[in-house]
Amino acid sequence: MSVDIDGVMQANQKRLLNGISLLLDEAEQLLPLLPPSALALPSSTYTRHLVYADELGRYSAMLLVWHPGQQSPVHGHRTWCTYKVLQGQLKEHHYKWNAEARRAEKCGEILRQAGDVVSAPAGLADIHQLVNQSAEVAVSLHIYGVDSQRISTHVNYLMPNA
Ligand SMILES: [Fe+2]
Repeated sequence: MSVDIDGVMQANQKRLLNGISLLLDEAEQLLPLLPPSALALPSSTYTRHLVYADELGRYSAMLLVWHPGQQSPVHGHRTWCTYKVLQGQLKEHHYKWNAEARRAEKCGEILRQAGDVVSAPAGLADIHQLVNQSAEVAVSLHIYGVDSQRISTHVNYLMPNA
């Protein structure tokens, strides 16, 4: 008896990508899962709300709520990630890692609008920071290649940038 390892892996990969693209396509339908207080009341920092966990632990999805002025830390990624802006807009600041100076240095920025989808690989090739510089609440869906138990510990590499 032989096992078609390549076939199994391809089928698994296809299911994974199908699940992710479905989540992205239907992401706006996830908005009602947010607790109403998340949109109404700004907390001290942006908030994260788990809305989906793949049954095989291959990825997890969170809604992030950004009140005006809130921002992520400058970070690289321990895993692949994809995000979609669902409401409002976010400024994405890009950084490059300066190994000699051992810090991330800003190298650009781009405005992400509702409907925009962005992906980043694991590692330090795509260091960024998201900031809500607008006067409106922004919401984004983030999908990470980790199970939900590790979503707080195995997603970001926090980077020194000063
Ligand atoms: Fe990120």
